[in-house]
Amino acid sequence: MLPRVLLLSVFALTCAHGEDAVRPLIEHVQTHRDGRAAWSIDFAALGENRADLPIGVFDSGIGGLTVMEAILKLDAFGNDTLRPGADGRADFAGERFIYFGDQANMPYGNYPAKGRENFLRELIMKDAVFLLGTRWRPAPAVAPRFDKPPVKAIVIACNTATAYGLEDIRGALREWKLEVPVIGVVEAGARAVAASLPDDGKPHGVAVLATVGTCATGAYPKAIGRATGMAGKSAPVVVQQGSVELAGAIERGQLQAVIDYARSDVTTLAGTHRRAGGPPIDTVVLGCTHFPLAKAELAEAFRLAHGVDATAVAENVSFIDPADSTARELFRELARARLRRKSDTAAPRAQFFLSVPNPASPEAKLAADGSLDADYKASREVGRFEVEDTVAIPLTAETLPASSAKLVQSLTAVWQQVQAVRPQP
Ligand code: DGL
Repeated sequence: MLPRVLLLSVFALTCAHGEDAVRPLIEHVQTHRDGRAAWSIDFAALGENRADLPIGVFDSGIGGLTVMEAILKLDAFGNDTLRPGADGRADFAGERFIYFGDQANMPYGNYPAKGRENFLRELIMKDAVFLLGTRWRPAPAVAPRFDKPPVKAIVIACNTATAYGLEDIRGALREWKLEVPVIGVVEAGARAVAASLPDDGKPHGVAVLATVGTCATGAYPKAIGRATGMAGKSAPVVVQQGSVELAGAIERGQLQAVIDYARSDVTTLAGTHRRAGGPPIDTVVLGCTHFPLAKAELAEAFRLAHGVDATAVAENVSFIDPADSTARELFRELARARLRRKSDTAAPRAQFFLSVPNPASPEAKLAADGSLDADYKASREVGRFEVEDTVAIPLTAETLPASSAKLVQSLTAVWQQVQAVRPQP
């Protein structure tokens, strides 16, 4: 038998990381089962015919739309046979979607370094609760409405949110007795790495570009180790680079800043790898959903880094975007849970929401550009559900922030859906 003191410390550790941070939200949802309160779920709306409900996808901003694009375009299975292999029909042709980007609270990746990991975990759970709930607002200063469809499955289209929140969300769903599949990008991305590595017995260098927060968890190195082991391949040398600024610059559409941050991050990464002395990096995981939107700038940065030191960076680097493998996992999971919606008649197929500061909140402190003030963002505490300092409002072609327009328009399947959204009566 384990000594009592050891048992107690295991218990304390489990509680410290496991539940404390999200316990208030789990209980808030339990006690507001009609879904009227902010961040609550109308359990009755999640009742019968789950398969007809939309699929929920969330991210800290617009970056997760790269995952949504991969989902909308996927044709890797037979729609009738469910077997692997394209059949010329989009695999999710009959499905509807709800996308949520928590733009008001981003960047998620910088909360942990400020000691706000618990608050981040609550934010991530709130994203899931928004998708599962019915509550939304047509505009920031307008009273809430309660007719958003809840979702039948959740895709965490954010690496940081997967690294910090996947287990919290799954645990909460178990407590709420809701059978809702949750798919995260990190495991899917790691499996894509394992599949892409040549089985040539040679050592390989894999770089993970992600947020500082994602890197701090070690989620990718662990998942890549597991996935290569499962695939019967030898584990690659994994080097991580946490990026403080790149996701924000992409979100704001600042091209020169994107080029500069991409170069400085890749230069730092190559230096770290050179000092550690691993095999040259030949595979790069775009471990932040925003980064596929800067693939050209990152590819150029790796080309330059190879020119500086070919022992650290290989001449040809292949990029892994976890989005495609996430989309495949979603298909398999819906098929397994018998949650696929078969009709091809869903139109419009998607609704998009973004969070913005709540103008009616007495607490929310704003910066000069109208966004939430950075110090205020990092000063908030968990469990204060009466403080609705951000609200989720629809994203349409008309309300799309100008800075994000070019990026969203480059995702053709997503853009088609955004344009099809009509304002609700
Ligand atoms: N979308 C997030 C991710 O994939 C990064 C952006 C952020 O820091 O909020 O990790």
